[in-house]
Amino acid sequence: MLNIDVRPIKTNQELEDMYYQRWLVLRDPLGMERGTEKDKYDTSAFHLVAVYNDTVIGSARLRELSEGLGSIAYVCVLNEFHNRGIGTTLIEELIEKAKEKNLRTLRVMTRLDALKFYKKLGFSQTGESFNYLDIPHLFMYLTLPSPLTLDGDFLPNT
Ligand SMILES: CC(C)(COP(=O)(O)OP(=O)(O)OC[C@H]1O[C@@H](n2cnc3c(N)ncnc32)[C@H](O)[C@@H]1OP(=O)(O)O)[C@@H](O)C(=O)NCCC(=O)NCCS
Repeated sequence: MLNIDVRPIKTNQELEDMYYQRWLVLRDPLGMERGTEKDKYDTSAFHLVAVYNDTVIGSARLRELSEGLGSIAYVCVLNEFHNRGIGTTLIEELIEKAKEKNLRTLRVMTRLDALKFYKKLGFSQTGESFNYLDIPHLFMYLTLPSPLTLDGDFLPNT
């Protein structure tokens, strides 16, 4: 089994490596230039990377859209590392981070290709598909459990 570390970014170099990996998976196949993989929310968002042999092979981003609502974006794993559970681990770790931040709902804008991947993780499809970068996408949502329903000690005895 490969020794892959999924964790927050540690250095500026790792941030740059993450942008490159994001570009390789999400933008280069569309013929888009370096730089198109970033947006204005990146500097304030929370980034996770999957690292193997000092190389960023996967990444994903969480940011707060409004009170209680988080957005997961730019979820991507290098092709040669697909189907090993790395994408799943990235999302599961972001869900934990979202709970820490007291977020109640997570939204992801996903390519239709990845619909099954998010369904397995508990996300539900909403609305009609739409085109973004000429690729059909959908919004999917996940409701996070309330801390009150997680711990019986918080509930009144009845
Ligand atoms: C979508 C994406 C992030 C998934 O990453 P991944 O690391 O391959 O995901 P996982 O390995 O966790 O899950 C994928 C499949 O592998 C299976 N899997 C999970 N752990 C596994 C393991 N240890 N061994 C073998 N298979 C495993 C999962 O059950 C899943 O099966 P499914 O296809 O039947 O749903 C990746 O395919 C990707 O980067 N795609 C291109 C970009 C993209 O579409 N991003 C998301 C929307 S914008």
